Amino acid sequence: MATVVLGVTGCIGVYKACEVLRELQRHGVDVRVVMTEHAMRFVSVLTFEALSHHPVFVDQFALGGESDIQHVSLADEADLLLVAPATANILGKFAHGIADDALSTLFTATTTPVVVAPAMNVNMFRHPAVVANVETLRARGVRFVEPGTGYLACGWLGQGRLAEVGDIVAAALAALARRRDLQGDTVLVTAGPTVEDIDPVRFVSNRSSGRMGYRLAEAARDRGARVVLVSGPATVPEPSGVETIRVRSAQEMADAVAARVPEATIVAMAAAVSDYRPGTVAPRKIKKSEGGLTLELVRTPDILRSLGAAKGGRFLVGFAAETDDVRGNARKKLAEKGLDLIVANDVSRDGSGFAAETNAATLLDAAGGEVEVPRTSKRELAERIWDRVAELRGRSPGGTQPRSHEGTEAAE
Ligand code: CTP
Repeated sequence: MATVVLGVTGCIGVYKACEVLRELQRHGVDVRVVMTEHAMRFVSVLTFEALSHHPVFVDQFALGGESDIQHVSLADEADLLLVAPATANILGKFAHGIADDALSTLFTATTTPVVVAPAMNVNMFRHPAVVANVETLRARGVRFVEPGTGYLACGWLGQGRLAEVGDIVAAALAALARRRDLQGDTVLVTAGPTVEDIDPVRFVSNRSSGRMGYRLAEAARDRGARVVLVSGPATVPEPSGVETIRVRSAQEMADAVAARVPEATIVAMAAAVSDYRPGTVAPRKIKKSEGGLTLELVRTPDILRSLGAAKGGRFLVGFAAETDDVRGNARKKLAEKGLDLIVANDVSRDGSGFAAETNAATLLDAAGGEVEVPRTSKRELAERIWDRVAELRGRSPGGTQPRSHEGTEAAE
């Protein structure tokens, strides 16, 4: 039975949390409740104790009774932390790592997926501080159930009303289903740029930050996969719970992928691999002289194409960063490289591509399907990519059967 920790904070929408709890129970979920001091001004602890059939956790310093360090034991037990309603105050604490009560402490102690349903006055919801906190949390993988628009308890008309019970429950159930849909899989993700040396101090590279691949690796880890991340020199921090192999050049990346691909059931090549490298690397720094300098560039191995040529039952995901005819070029790459899915994005658009924390993409698959993902955080795009992978492999969300793969061929 799945366990959901329901965090309840203080605002008028709190009564809906009781219905959320009941609905989750109807779906066979065990619900444990954590309340903030402010929530207790709206609804009594007794209400949630009676509904959940468990003690409610409100004070991380309470003595006696349950002797466990509750914020840690609950954090470990939970399959999902759902916070509904979530005030501007709790979002601020979550975003900044402030752990001064039971719920905020539990949030910082848990590695489980988190879904929040904000509720607040419209001006609070639009306040730059709240907007920034929401963006920070989204980028870290927290899922939001958007508040509704209408008349708010404070008399204002606008966005801020707690989402409907059905939407909150659906988001929680979807997050629970995702939690294990890559269990049994070994996912090989590549990320970052590659760097091709010209001489000991100069190189040819590109503007990839590694963010998209890192978010893909983190999302796969959170969905139960064993993850191997082969990374070029990226500018984002290394994810925890993932085996990271550092490489520099396209050839090094090709070698690392070849070594690890036999164990992979899914490969996602998010790396921006240099297509060319200098024909020779000067052993000493090249000194300037009169006139220009011509560099001779030669092709690097196409790693993904090699994987497609010796695919076995492995599921292959490629990326296509395009500025023109995005769909057409991506479809061509999908076919030529023998891929199952390609993530095409238009890097000429604002908020898409390399350095941005957000991205928009079209997911094109080998069966002709197309899914449009509008601009969103790279973490959310990563989730949508894994959702699509799960659908295309015909694996029901939450299934645990590892897909067999007969092929163990390595890339060249
Ligand atoms: N890729 C690879 N090995 C290379 C180059 C690219 O595995 N040497 C992978 C990338 O990780 C990405 C996909 O192939 O998943 C991108 O395809 P590619 O044709 O290389 O895209 P571009 O380099 O953008 O190609 P072009 O310049 O022709 O548009």
